[in-house]
Formats: sequence, C-alpha cells, structure tokens
Amino acid sequence: MLSTFGHLFRVTTWGESHGPALGCTIDGCPPGLKLDMEDVQHQLSRRRPGQSKLVTPRKEPDKIEILSGVFEGVTTGTPIQMVIWNKDADSRKYRQWKDTWRPSHADYTYEAKYGRRDWRGGGRASARETAARVAAGAVAQQWLQARYGVEIVAWVERVERLVAEVDGDSVDRQSVDAHPTRCPDPAVAGDMAELIQTARIDRDSLGGVVGCVARGVPAGWGEPVFGKAEALLAYGMMSLPAAKGFESGAGFNGATMRGSHHNDPFATDDQGRVVTTTNHAGGILGGISSGMPITMRVAFKPVATIARPQKTVNRQGQDVDILMKGRHDPCVLPRAVPLVEAMAALVLMDLALMQEARASFRDTPSS
Ligand SMILES: Cc1cc2nc3c(=O)[nH]c(=O)nc-3n(C[C@H](O)[C@H](O)[C@H](O)COP(=O)(O)O)c2cc1C
Repeated sequence: MLSTFGHLFRVTTWGESHGPALGCTIDGCPPGLKLDMEDVQHQLSRRRPGQSKLVTPRKEPDKIEILSGVFEGVTTGTPIQMVIWNKDADSRKYRQWKDTWRPSHADYTYEAKYGRRDWRGGGRASARETAARVAAGAVAQQWLQARYGVEIVAWVERVERLVAEVDGDSVDRQSVDAHPTRCPDPAVAGDMAELIQTARIDRDSLGGVVGCVARGVPAGWGEPVFGKAEALLAYGMMSLPAAKGFESGAGFNGATMRGSHHNDPFATDDQGRVVTTTNHAGGILGGISSGMPITMRVAFKPVATIARPQKTVNRQGQDVDILMKGRHDPCVLPRAVPLVEAMAALVLMDLALMQEARASFRDTPSS
C-alpha cells in the first residue's frame, strides 16, 4: 500500500516532480533475467515529455540509472534500485500558486491529508512519478516475455468524441508508435492530432480512452476472490494519475448485451487447446485468466492545467481567479499508453509468481 504496489513482485516508487530525482525499488524480481536496459530506456522515452508537438514541451531526457540488483546484465534476485535525475524542473511559476488550490488537481486534498505539500510541479501527485512505474513495468514485461511469451500492447482508442477501430488480436507497438497520437487506426489518428492541436489553441484539455491487450497469458493466473485478475488490473490502472474509468472485456457495453450474445462459446483449437470463439469476458473468468487475450480499457480525464482563468479559493478561503500558463499536456493520452502497459505488466507478473508458488503443491495427491 501507500507507495508500494504488488505482493510477490513489489514495486515502491519515490520522488517528486521537481525534487532532485525519482525512481523505484523492485523487491522480488526473480534471479536470472537478462535485463535489456535499452528496452527499459525505450519505454521511458515513449512516456517522456517533449517527444512530439502533441504533448508538453518540458525537456526531460529521463535517463535511467540502475544502482543494484543486476550483475553482468542479469538480475541477481536482490532489490533492483533505479533512479532518474530531474533535469528540466522550473519551479518558479509554481510559487504563485502555492497557497491556491488548482481546480481538478490534487493540491487541496494533499494539504487536507498531510497539512503540507511540495507545491513544485505537483510534487508527488505529478505524473512524473509514473516514469518510475514505467521503468519497473519494463522489467516485468521483459520477464513475462522471456518466461511465457506474454505480449502487452496498449494504444489510444478514443480522444474526446473520436473513436478508433483497433483489432486487439493483431495490434502491435510498431503500428501504435507509427503516429504521434499512438492511435494505430490511420483513419482517425490524423483527426485526433488536429483535435489535440485545436484544444491547445483553445487553451483547453481533452480526455480519452486507452485500450490494452495482453496476449499469451496462460489459463490460471488470478486469485479468487479479492485478488481477481480484473480487480487487481482495475486497482493498478485506477492508481494512474487522471485515470477515471476501467473496463474489462466488453465492460460497460456488456451491460447492454443479452447473455445469448455475451456468452463466449468454448471450443478447442487445432492444437487441442481450450479457447472461446468470442472474447466478451476479456480473457478472465472468475477472476482467473482463461488463456484468451486479456483486454481492458482505461478512461483518462481532461487534465487540470488549462491556460484559462478559472475560479478557485486560496488557503484563506477567499475566492480567487487562477491562470495556469506553462508547459502542460493538452491531452495526456499518447503518453498514457506506456503507463497502461506498465501497470498491466506489474499486475500480471505478480499473478504469474503467485501461480508459480502454487504450482509446486497444486498436484499433491490426496491421501
Ligand atoms: C502522462 C500524464 C501527464 C499529465 N500531465 C498533466 C498536466 O500537464 N497537467 C495536469 O494538470 N495534470 C496532468 N496529469 C494528471 C495529474 O497528474 C492528475 O490529474 C493529478 O495528479 C490529480 O489526480 P487525479 O486526476 O487522479 O485525481 C497528467 C497525467 C498523466 C497520466
């Protein structure tokens, strides 16, 4: 809890947006994983600010340094410590807002909780914290890929009213990254980019939905009843900044369907494996993976910092206007894609390790 996520693969993140550094400690990573740090860096570069005209121009290189837990390029099983130094933090403009609550941000609630807060750049509530999760998630993705061939792909499915058609069975990261919106549907991606630019000019922000699939997850991962795979995925995704909704499989749309249409018929494939011919369940039954692709969606709100005067109150309870000019994201969706992949990987690796722990006694013959 608090700053730690996971049970057997435990990730603690630390650091503030404008502090000297931020990072994560991973406890419970199995030994023997050949860690590709270039791949970890690549995932961070997909999250970092300044990567296209559609996102905040803050210029953070987000260079990752690994301090422990890896020897000769291979994990040792001891805690992995990773650090990212903050380079482009400009705290000056935040001083003017230190006694004023930004509408829709976490200033008021952090103060209500702790009686104080680091007001520079959103402090701990800043989405910069997610760089640490992306680094930990990249480690989990490498382990899942190496041990089980699991592949996790997320994409931008919706920006405000524009919705993409994406085939979760075939979508890959190359097609996602082919456009700066990270929408792999070329028919919609251009319009999404235009919409985001228009919002920037209007000094407004836009929300949307990230879709995600995990392919290759074997049947049996997930812990009934409070550790249901979809419950833990929802928990992980809803811990992301600006996340406001989670769907598993057919999700809310499933509520409009009839059982005769929603039920996924079982069949066997040409290799004799149990499959379902549709996947409205999103690859999870009873909280346990069925072997079908695990599918989910995460809704992100239009973020708080818009360069328009807004009504709020200050620490003294006086009505004031606030104008937040600066380097902000008009739409966080393109940068949220690697975050969703990271959280999916953290949950799935934790569930995989739990299932491996159980496998050693699952087949014990009863007397
Ligand atoms: C990738 C990413 C970038 C973000 N950038 C901003 C931003 O520029 N301005 C802002 O107000 N919020 C931004 N947010 C959202 C805030 O961090 C978040 O709204 C805030 O911490 C309050 O938390 P809540 O929205 O989960 O309640 C961003 C979120 C993500 C995922």
